[in-house]
Amino acid sequence: EKGTYPHYMLKEIDEQPAVMRKIIQNYQNDSGELQIDQDILSAMNDSDRIYIIAAGTSYHAGLVGKQFLERMAQIPVEVHISSEFGYNMPLLSKKPLFIFISQSGETADSRQVLVQIKEMGHKSLTITNVQGSTLSREADYTLLLHAGPEIAVASTKAYTAQLAVLAILAEVTAKSRDIEVPFSLVQELGIVANAMEVLRDSKEEFEAIAREYLSVTRNCFFIGRGIDFYVGLEGALKLKEISYIQAEGFAGGELKHGTIALIEEGTPVIALATQKFVNLSIRGNVKEVVARGANPCIISMDGLNTDEDRFVIPEVHELLTPLISVVPMQLISYYAALHRDCDVDKPRNLAKSVTVE
Ligand code: M6R
Repeated sequence: EKGTYPHYMLKEIDEQPAVMRKIIQNYQNDSGELQIDQDILSAMNDSDRIYIIAAGTSYHAGLVGKQFLERMAQIPVEVHISSEFGYNMPLLSKKPLFIFISQSGETADSRQVLVQIKEMGHKSLTITNVQGSTLSREADYTLLLHAGPEIAVASTKAYTAQLAVLAILAEVTAKSRDIEVPFSLVQELGIVANAMEVLRDSKEEFEAIAREYLSVTRNCFFIGRGIDFYVGLEGALKLKEISYIQAEGFAGGELKHGTIALIEEGTPVIALATQKFVNLSIRGNVKEVVARGANPCIISMDGLNTDEDRFVIPEVHELLTPLISVVPMQLISYYAALHRDCDVDKPRNLAKSVTVE
């Protein structure tokens, strides 16, 4: 039930800090350490390459998950869109492990890949919010998101839950391989939950940003570098599906290879700046679009901010920034849709789970 909330989407955005805490709790053992079934760890350690298969927002979570798994557990990872995988199958490694990420566990495109790789004799793990869902039943192993039911068509808390579970999988796998993780994930996810609360209390600012930048615009671009690029892709998907504004996410460095031609007087460009090593370059990209008339909205992380920034998110571990930087994307999209009188929870032409190919 959505209780006093006007929309499920807003309720689900607000639930994110509680979901983070619930995930930590569910994956902790009695001595407070993060834990994953031994079978799953063995499958991770037996494999020489992981193939993440997903669609939409879950695919965007997979792109970030690849960074977690490669940087923490040092296993190579490929991320694929499920609808393309069947006929564009890459040359597989000798010992592949397939990870299906799906909130609903019912996405037909992903299921089709699962059927295909099972026939080939490969092992599979499903990361899903729905216990007993098709993808969970048919895969060898399951990890649950513990996010509670997600009703709004636009996925919000499932995305951040997917990232948290992928980070836990990466950390526990790293430890099982004697690879040192130079921070405490339990502690860092706790910091993420607190930071999410700060953003939850800053809604007026996101409503103001949506009003100022998105009330009348035809299009909007999201730019970022490194892990921020992936969050930009998710920001653009959120905005297009509920506000119907044409939105695209770009890697900052790609602008000059074509995209910058789209910038006109007043075009909103939302830039993410949460990564120290690309902070100067992304700010350089903002200058380039501003010189062509863009209306920039820089969202940065505390410690990397400058006077020109529109919103500064609280500091979290640099690998975990997507868990936080996505929240402004969710809220800005929500208010943009509201201001444009769109049906926030049930956008046109879309279904919550896509059970046809
Ligand atoms: O249930 P799934 O995670 O498999 O769904 C995948 C996509 O259909 C889903 O993420 C979709 O892109 C959302 N509407 C995005 O908000």
